[in-house]
Amino acid sequence: SRTVRRDADGVVTVGGLDVRALAEEFGTPAYFLDEDDFRARCRAWKDAFGPDADVFYAGKAFLSRAIVRWLNEEGLNLDVCSGGELATALGAGMPAERIALHGNNKSNEEITRAVAAGVGRIVLDSFQEMVRVAHIAERLGKRQRVQIRVTVGVEAHTHEFIATAHEDQKFGIALAGGEAAEAVRRALKLDGLELVGIHSHIGSQIFDMAGFEVSARRVVQLLAEVRDEHGVELPEIDLGGGLGIAYTSNDDPREPQEIATALSGIVTKECRSAGLTVPRLSVEPGRAIVGPTAFTLYEVGTVKELAGLRTYVSVDGGMSDNIRTALYDAEYSVALVSRTSDAEPMLSRVVGKHCESGDIVVRDAFLPADVAPGDLLAVPATGAYCRSMASNYNHALRPPVVAVRDGRARLIVRRETEEDLLRLDVG
Ligand code: LLP
Repeated sequence: SRTVRRDADGVVTVGGLDVRALAEEFGTPAYFLDEDDFRARCRAWKDAFGPDADVFYAGKAFLSRAIVRWLNEEGLNLDVCSGGELATALGAGMPAERIALHGNNKSNEEITRAVAAGVGRIVLDSFQEMVRVAHIAERLGKRQRVQIRVTVGVEAHTHEFIATAHEDQKFGIALAGGEAAEAVRRALKLDGLELVGIHSHIGSQIFDMAGFEVSARRVVQLLAEVRDEHGVELPEIDLGGGLGIAYTSNDDPREPQEIATALSGIVTKECRSAGLTVPRLSVEPGRAIVGPTAFTLYEVGTVKELAGLRTYVSVDGGMSDNIRTALYDAEYSVALVSRTSDAEPMLSRVVGKHCESGDIVVRDAFLPADVAPGDLLAVPATGAYCRSMASNYNHALRPPVVAVRDGRARLIVRRETEEDLLRLDVG
């Protein structure tokens, strides 16, 4: 987040607000999200890609009504992948034509709602779904704009990409073996569909642009084949999301401008050499927009020093508000933010309060040796896939999300209550 500062006493402020006062007002654990930073990132992506491209924010990273309103105001589009995300988007006023519906197993009900609402596109993930969407659209007297999601034979993770063994997964239709070409053939014949483009998403937390370049090249190759076979130039390419952010100081993320230049450069070059009109490009960043804009604030409860090993610092949340460490071995950093300390750094592990030993928030961190109950710790870069993947494990109450802007803090998602938990129990 861009407005986090540490004053002379070691107390951290966000948007000018003291974290101790924030903890007092909103309780811990809580996520604090810098609204200006979020909006600035939206604008940076939008400006980098320019008027001839669309930026779809991937709602799975984190979605709430406030987020939808901000996206709307900043001119971004929205990628949703469930009925719940679609309902949130429409309910908070995102125009349907700026929404894309994703998913490998969309229900008839989800498809019907999306088509009836008039979403701008549905990204088709299988042959069966293609027929389903076409029938539903026809029944509703509509022609639904769709893209076909293809798997390009590239799987990218962080610092590398693998060009083999990637088709063995549940998403999309393979370019290999002519599957995607066959999907285009069938889609063009279905009256309920208007096929507008090809979609590819290659992975998550990617820093190296090489995987995107291979993906873009292969998608353009398919567009050229479609032109040769059908005499149709599909007008859109979506290259998905997956751009990496800095979780720790070891990560070195690309800026939106650099990403935009690389992606549009390669698409333009490949289209020119294939004699194709350059299609409208779109991307779907989730993490890269919201990830860096929030941190989680925890209070230390107990500290246990294991001689010769490390110190376990237990906080009042854990895997219920950040599953990523346990699930992906994700790396985070942590800082003492409620005071300064001159104590020696000690090798620490920040753990939660859940009933299992894998409940780790930050696996290895150096914290001052005098960290004590009541201290506040902040874990940065928790804006993406933390609140959205939060659970009620051990009947934890999912934390609030507090937006900070212009020296003011306000709830955009309130903390759950025990009543919320009990409300679902029947009998
Ligand atoms: N577009 C599609 C089709 C996707 O499947 C995804 C993410 C995105 C866009 C956005 O990707 P992003 O820019 O946020 O990396 N829960 C995992 C990440 C799973 C992402 C799934 N799809 C995590 O916590 O890292």
